[in-house]
Amino acid sequence: MKELLEKIAREAEEALSRVNTKKDFERLRYDFLGRSGKLADISKQMKTLSAEEKKNIGKFFNELKNSIENSFNAHPFSKNDDSEDGKKTFIDYTLPGKAGALGSIHPIGQFMEKVISIFSSMGYEVIFGNEVETERYNFDFLNMPKDHPSRDIQDTFFIKGQEDWVLRTHTSNMQIRSMESRKPPVRILSPGRVYRHEATDASHESMFYQVEGFAIDRDIKLTDLLGTLRMFLEAIYGKVKLRFRPHYYPFVEPGLDVDMACLICGGKGCSVCKKTGWLEMIGSGMIHPTVLKNMNVDPKIWSGFAFGVGLDRLMILYYGIDDVRLSYQGDVRFLRQF
Ligand code: PHE
Repeated sequence: MKELLEKIAREAEEALSRVNTKKDFERLRYDFLGRSGKLADISKQMKTLSAEEKKNIGKFFNELKNSIENSFNAHPFSKNDDSEDGKKTFIDYTLPGKAGALGSIHPIGQFMEKVISIFSSMGYEVIFGNEVETERYNFDFLNMPKDHPSRDIQDTFFIKGQEDWVLRTHTSNMQIRSMESRKPPVRILSPGRVYRHEATDASHESMFYQVEGFAIDRDIKLTDLLGTLRMFLEAIYGKVKLRFRPHYYPFVEPGLDVDMACLICGGKGCSVCKKTGWLEMIGSGMIHPTVLKNMNVDPKIWSGFAFGVGLDRLMILYYGIDDVRLSYQGDVRFLRQF
């Protein structure tokens, strides 16, 4: 009988080690310790024993029963059964878990990746620049000296208590910065945040994204610029109708603005294009000889084009969003759509 008891104890331990639902656990407890369970069976059989044997086996039986009960009580399925206040707090570890909410890449970030991949495929190197900049890199080296009226065009945030430091007003600072450690020929793309002290409205924010691009080589011509920009816009929007318009930027000569026939109304005029039929997309031009010199590049040998494009603008047109401010409000109802 002792052997039988030992066998039951081993079985109980073994079964407990494998049980993995609360239900199975309770059934096991009943099988071993219940009123008609295995131990109860033995206890019944013990009645037929002599007084001497009873005494002997009885002690053994009780020890073993205690140990089996302890094993059951120590098991997690047992412990979590009832908390002190009597409420069920049992945790079923076998239930499938809830999936945690995952974040996602912001639409601006996704769009930046798109622009980067288009230019990477054309051999452009991508450089991320600094947003806090000195006036020299943001203005002076770009042919915008201190008293030059062109400096008023951009409403600059100055850094308090820091002489000469500003939040960059455009990504053009990277034209100069990146050429400090490079020699032509180069093709460079530099996306990032820029800051302007302006009133915000549906199409203006005081912080926004630009992508600067430029190429310097021996025989870069205006047509290379036009072809590159068309390729870029068509890679995003498909076939587009473009208009190149002269525009003054101190760091290029000649300077051009690129307009695209409004995607919303097809050129007829609507609220998005402010009834003009055209959307202003890109500022660009041939890099000014003075700027090339500031890059330590000889304008007699090398020439280059540069452009700057508002990433937010490109993005909202692509998705058909009618207010740039939505981009920066962090509203998940908006963000979930991308
Ligand atoms: N930096 C100009 C702007 O922010 C855009 C530009 C870049 C124009 C490069 C010409 C060449 O408005």
